[in-house]
Amino acid sequence: MNRILGVLISGRGSNLQAIIDAIREGRLDARIAVVISNRADAYGLERARAAGIETLCISHRAFPTREAFEAALVAELRAREVGLVCLAGFMRVLGPTFVEAFPNAILNIHPSLLPSFPGLHAQRRAVEHGVKVSGVTVHLVDCQLDAGPIVVQRAVPVHDDDTAETLADRILAVEHQAYPEAIRIVLDRRWRIEGRRFLSEPQ
Ligand code: GRF
Repeated sequence: MNRILGVLISGRGSNLQAIIDAIREGRLDARIAVVISNRADAYGLERARAAGIETLCISHRAFPTREAFEAALVAELRAREVGLVCLAGFMRVLGPTFVEAFPNAILNIHPSLLPSFPGLHAQRRAVEHGVKVSGVTVHLVDCQLDAGPIVVQRAVPVHDDDTAETLADRILAVEHQAYPEAIRIVLDRRWRIEGRRFLSEPQ
């Protein structure tokens, strides 16, 4: 796998910013070739432009099928020789057209300890369920939602006075550490997949 990243976003892009900062500060040896958003108003596009990174807006609405949308994404990423795709708040479920184009080479970040609370509003659902610990998961992407082998998990305690918002803020701060770290592990270490397990050799 090369060290060329493609980052897919739909919104504010704070995880994108964390990756940009990690690269700029020398904590992550990689290059972001392109940031693609499916929404033209995603603030993350401005973050990318400010960092001098090429941006594309590819709206899923412009395509007749999910397959056609995904094929367009794949074509743009391949044209830039992207080796590792990082989903960072990308709000479209990806199917086989995309996933099979980048086998074990797509990462996603999710604001819970998977397999608890997959899908939307993970932080609010954690508070409502009454769990005492939630957290962050960075995982390889397969065709199921928020599944795939887990690369990094970090726990975040849930306090009695937490609201969905306060928990989400603390989880987000941990996300910003965990995502660059997971990318580093995938790029720098020797690793293999056994069943559902991502196993890497210590450095
Ligand atoms: C993060 O909470 C991430 O875990 C989830 O979507 C959110 C994206 O936030 N997948 P941002 O756009 O990176 O600020």
